[in-house]
Amino acid sequence: MFDSKIYSDRRQKLLAEFSGGLLLFPGNNESSMNYADNTYPFRQDSTFLYYFGLNFPELTGVVDVDEGKCFIFGDDLTIDDIVWMGAQPTIAQRAQKAGITHTAPLADLHKYFAKAVTQKRSIHYLPPYRADTKIQLHGLLAKGLDAITNSASTELIKAVVRQRNIKASEEILEIEKAANITVDMHLKAMRMVRPGITEAEVAAAVHEQALAANGDISFPIIATTQGATLHNHYHGNTLKSGELFLLDAGCETPLGYAADMSSTIPVDKTFTDRQKDIYNITLNAHNAAVEALKPGVAFKEIHLLAAKTIATGLEEMGLMKGNIDDAVAAGAHALFFPCGLGHLMGLDVHDMENLGEEYVGYHNEKKSTQFGLKSLRLGRILEPGFVLTIEPGIYFIPELIDMWRAEGRFTDFVNYERVLEYRDFGGIRNEEDFLITEEGSRLLGKPLPKSIAEVESIKKEQKTKVLLRLDHNTPAKVPPS
Ligand code: GLY
Ligand code: MN
Repeated sequence: MFDSKIYSDRRQKLLAEFSGGLLLFPGNNESSMNYADNTYPFRQDSTFLYYFGLNFPELTGVVDVDEGKCFIFGDDLTIDDIVWMGAQPTIAQRAQKAGITHTAPLADLHKYFAKAVTQKRSIHYLPPYRADTKIQLHGLLAKGLDAITNSASTELIKAVVRQRNIKASEEILEIEKAANITVDMHLKAMRMVRPGITEAEVAAAVHEQALAANGDISFPIIATTQGATLHNHYHGNTLKSGELFLLDAGCETPLGYAADMSSTIPVDKTFTDRQKDIYNITLNAHNAAVEALKPGVAFKEIHLLAAKTIATGLEEMGLMKGNIDDAVAAGAHALFFPCGLGHLMGLDVHDMENLGEEYVGYHNEKKSTQFGLKSLRLGRILEPGFVLTIEPGIYFIPELIDMWRAEGRFTDFVNYERVLEYRDFGGIRNEEDFLITEEGSRLLGKPLPKSIAEVESIKKEQKTKVLLRLDHNTPAKVPPS
């Protein structure tokens, strides 16, 4: 945890935004997989972590604005719990680490809110995203489940977003730790990727790198030779010569801060000329976007700059045609770049996505419904203290190409005959994390090898390896790629 003063100061700042009422922050509970005691790895709610820092289940935080007091409600362990889980600090001892002296058992939480409901006090809470939290709020606030979901407090959402969007120095340090481990995760993959190895083996080694650093992953690893599928979590393929391998993976620190990076790596030691052409267009888009990052600029404009860079490169290769500004305004480039350039990042890899993109990434503006732009999570004007990803990509999605071609979509801008030559090419993405500073931006973490020369130079160091697998009778000797 950070120093207790950090949590006290964060709560004081929040409290000062309200003239009265109660702010209610349910922490997350354990979540069962296949029977009650066999649970998914515990992940605390990020806003709870931000204001209370306590990274364990079955807690609720309350800020009483009228009385200027903060509470942690939770139960101490019973002797049965201690037999199975070992002794743990009491709730009071733990709450002290978050600067809180008022603690009470969960049974009192119900009495506290029964009284608050009777007194018709205004009670603010954030949109719940877990079923058990909805049920807890339903019990506490005496409202139907639909009403619980619909009555989340816009005032609280906006206040939390204002605070969490601007990263403090201690948060930036934490994100940098995650970023440095994330670079190591990607270097690990670059050294392993070769013909004969499996996606699962690379994914496992990447995950191990995060675990060995006492962290974990900030989202399920994407480690795939089928990079055209944006969120491909299947790891069942064996890598083959001539393919590209896409890794999208990030570390999460023990305090819950995320990093998120993507690399595209040739399975062989070098990229083919055809791969280089597409890779360099993505890299140009990446560099143009990074160059443009600064406060006062709308991220939507930087996204469109990346889109134009991609469309220009594809036009030079003969895959697109016509006026590029018109093509991008119409959304024709989205055949190849159907997603957003990046997103905010912090305690969540897509920061505060549970609070609503219109507040977090768009500052109350309406998001475009155009294909491509509708998937841009961040569009707002950038401010110093924002942390975000830059992740342009070029994807050849066979089903999308076939559909647009059959429908005759954007025939003024897309040269389908040439695109068909790339129908099975796959996908390329490069992603890094940046802090918006007063002057411009700063890369978070060590630089990730990105240029063709940098990636190939790591691959050239690869040695022959003997891979042992449970499903092989004899060890498979895999030649250097
Ligand atoms: N790294 C996964 C994503 O940004 O969606
Ligand atoms: Mn990302």
